[in-house]
Formats: sequence, structure tokens, C-alpha cells
Amino acid sequence: MLKSIIKNILVSEEEIDTIVTRLADEISRDYAGKNLVLVCVLKGSIMFTIDLAKKLDTVCEMEFIRTYSYGNATESSGEVKILVDFDRPDFAECDFLILEDIVDSGNTLKYLVEHIMSKGPKSVKTCTLLDKPSRRKVDFDPDYVGTVIPDEFVFGYGLDLFEKYRDLPYVAVVSPDYLASRGL
Ligand code: PRP
Repeated sequence: MLKSIIKNILVSEEEIDTIVTRLADEISRDYAGKNLVLVCVLKGSIMFTIDLAKKLDTVCEMEFIRTYSYGNATESSGEVKILVDFDRPDFAECDFLILEDIVDSGNTLKYLVEHIMSKGPKSVKTCTLLDKPSRRKVDFDPDYVGTVIPDEFVFGYGLDLFEKYRDLPYVAVVSPDYLASRGL
């Protein structure tokens, strides 16, 4: 069943491990001695956040925020909603690093950076595992990028296909036949 849905594996489990290790090394170096707070953007970045956090060689805290912009569509609605937010009394002392599985239109991260900035933090930066710059609709560049990918519908490793398959250990491209069968 799963085989018929996958066109090809775009980023393998081993490649993800290599990318996450590199990002964790860079972040550990850049945030040494700072008050790093990782912000996991649910649901998509759950796998990435956990794997990255485990590889960090610096003290960090974790927060979780849940956004929603796509539903079951392939195009971002452009409107980002925060379904679950976090709060804390010490925003001014924190260096927030927002973690995303993917940057597509850029709407979600641009919105989240502004949202956290409005609370007066020490700093806010962004890190994404996957970047699709060809799909950008707003002017936004993440500070840390795992890998740039082409404009294909991908799923796995946190990214869903109609809410399923987030648990796959790799990132795969959806087969055109499957997309057509779902009317996409
Ligand atoms: C996906 C993804 C990012 C966002 C990126 O989330 O996890 O948060 O879209 O797209 P953008 O750059 O066009 O804003 P989605 O809203 O589908 O929710 P999910 O993480 O719960 O699947």
C-alpha cells in the first residue's frame, strides 16, 4: 500500500541524520552560553525537534506551538492560525529558535517570528529541515536550512499526507497517481 503512494524517497533516514547532526553542531556553537529555547511548531516539526534536541551540545528549553494553514490542501491558505500557543514570564531573557519541518510559502515562519518578536524576546531565529524557496510567497529566509528541495509534494518524518504517515523515518515524494486519485 505505502509503496504505491511513494514516487521516490527524497531524503533518506541516513541523510536526515547527517543533516540534523550538522545543524545541531552549528546551533550548539552559535548558542553556547545563551538562553536557548527551542520552539517546536506542531505538528510537522515534532520528529525534527526531538532528533535535533537530542544532538544539541548546549543547554536548552523547549516550547510547543501549534499552527494550521493548509488543512488537507496542497496550497497554503495564506492565513496562519495559532491553535495552541505558549507563554512564559521571561521572554526578554530568551533566545528563541523556531524549528520547522518545511518552509514553503514562508507564511507560517514569517507570522511566527513576528508573533514571538511582539513579546519582546532577546532574539528570534528560525531553522528548517526542508526548504522549498521556489514556492515562496512572502519575503522570508530561514536562518538555518537543512536541505533545499524541489517543488514536489513530500511527506514523512513529521510531514503528513492527509494527516497520515508523519511517523515515517524518511521524506518521500508522493506518486502522481495517488495525488490524482485524491483529486489533486
Ligand atoms: C506545514 C509545515 C509548516 C508550514 C509550512 O504545516 O509543517 O508549518 O506548513 O508552510 P508555509 O511556509 O507555506 O507556511 P501545516 O499548516 O500543514 O500544519 P501541520 O504541521 O500540523 O501539518
